[in-house]
Amino acid sequence: MEIGIDKIGFYTPHQYVDMNNLAVARNVEPEKFTIGIGQEEMALAPITQDSVTLAANAALQIISEEDKKAIDFVIFGTESGIDHSKSGAVYVHKLLGLKPQARAIEVKQACYGATAAIQMAKGHVALHPESKVLVLGSDIARYGLNTSGEATQGAGAVALLIGANPGILALENEDVYLTNDIMDFWRPIYSEQAFVDGKFSNEQYILFFQKVWEQYKEKTGLQLADFEAICYHLPYTKMGLKALRTVIDEAEEQDKERLLENYKTSTQYNRRVGNIYTGSLYLSFLSLIEQQERLKAGSRIGFFSYGSGAVGEFFTGVLQPNYQAHLNTEQHAKLFSSREELSVEQYEEIFSNTLPTDGSTIELDVKQDPAPICLAGITDNKRQYINKLD
Ligand code: HMG
Repeated sequence: MEIGIDKIGFYTPHQYVDMNNLAVARNVEPEKFTIGIGQEEMALAPITQDSVTLAANAALQIISEEDKKAIDFVIFGTESGIDHSKSGAVYVHKLLGLKPQARAIEVKQACYGATAAIQMAKGHVALHPESKVLVLGSDIARYGLNTSGEATQGAGAVALLIGANPGILALENEDVYLTNDIMDFWRPIYSEQAFVDGKFSNEQYILFFQKVWEQYKEKTGLQLADFEAICYHLPYTKMGLKALRTVIDEAEEQDKERLLENYKTSTQYNRRVGNIYTGSLYLSFLSLIEQQERLKAGSRIGFFSYGSGAVGEFFTGVLQPNYQAHLNTEQHAKLFSSREELSVEQYEEIFSNTLPTDGSTIELDVKQDPAPICLAGITDNKRQYINKLD
């Protein structure tokens, strides 16, 4: 039985900053951000979007009435959760109107969370082939205004429906993984913003990739030539390229060209969104399959997942016959084209407008936010969500 990705949904907030303008405001050359970091635009979450609403809006696109009957497990990967106790999955479960006979949990290991969720989902479907599992990777990346990480912020979510006989990608079973306790990026419970040792995190990302790639080759005997493309966790789009370049000389010229071209295609959406932590690797995969018309069913795709702290994994999947019929390319083009550009001043104001943390009540204006599912306020320390489509 094949198990894998049946559908993919994606959501990013309706507003963004142009990286050229941010560079000018920060007194750096625009090429540092657009070429050196590899980002063109950076999505910004309004106060009416949090990790729960972003995830629910991503899932809303893909869940049919039939899926609702089959989903008996919701796994929410995030590192910008809204509660230390209750999982974001329970809120999304309600907002989507899923059946009560379901498990709902949150998993955390930095950007690796959604990968852990997919592997858990795969095991669940292997035992219960009639089940479908909704995996969510949803985050808001915040380093702070005028910080070195500022250009690598972003906001968005990816929703993946995992099931038997999948429409898009069948997962293979030769995954390899690695854990090592390091302090490259972390966010203590009391802090709204992440702490990062930027250069060290880059080095560790590359080292983890090299180690899992070696492990994979040893385990399977496969080579770069066996891959149509390799998708990377993309904290910024230059990062995966740096890792790929360290192994690319193992390939013949035509394989090199294909892998580099497909890498570029796999970064198109991420260049316009920024880092969405748990969802970034899957946004990159979505970018590849929606934007690279030359891809063929039967092609093997590699996935490098990295979550600071750190856990890395390399796993693979095979594109399924007629996978294109399961994509929402036009809807995603519309999502991008309907976004509103913010000036740097507007971005700074919205960024600084955060929710109260002292238990006070707040009512938010959801009319300004075109998303169907929004945060409408906080009452009695409880977040109030609305689905405008209900
Ligand atoms: P920085 O100090 O601002 O930038 O930090 P830099 O000086 O290293 O320059 C960046 C690149 O721009 C360099 O290229 C420069 O040469 C180039 P590189 O040598 O690296 O290839 N550059 C230019 N290029 C063209 N024209 C110019 C120009 N000027 C300079 N005029 C850094 C950059 C990414 C470190 C910082 O933004 C940061 O700390 N970001 C956050 C951490 C991060 O994203 N780490 C990535 C690996 S860890 C990870 O992926 C996990 C994560 O997603 C979290 C999780 O798991 O939850 C972050």
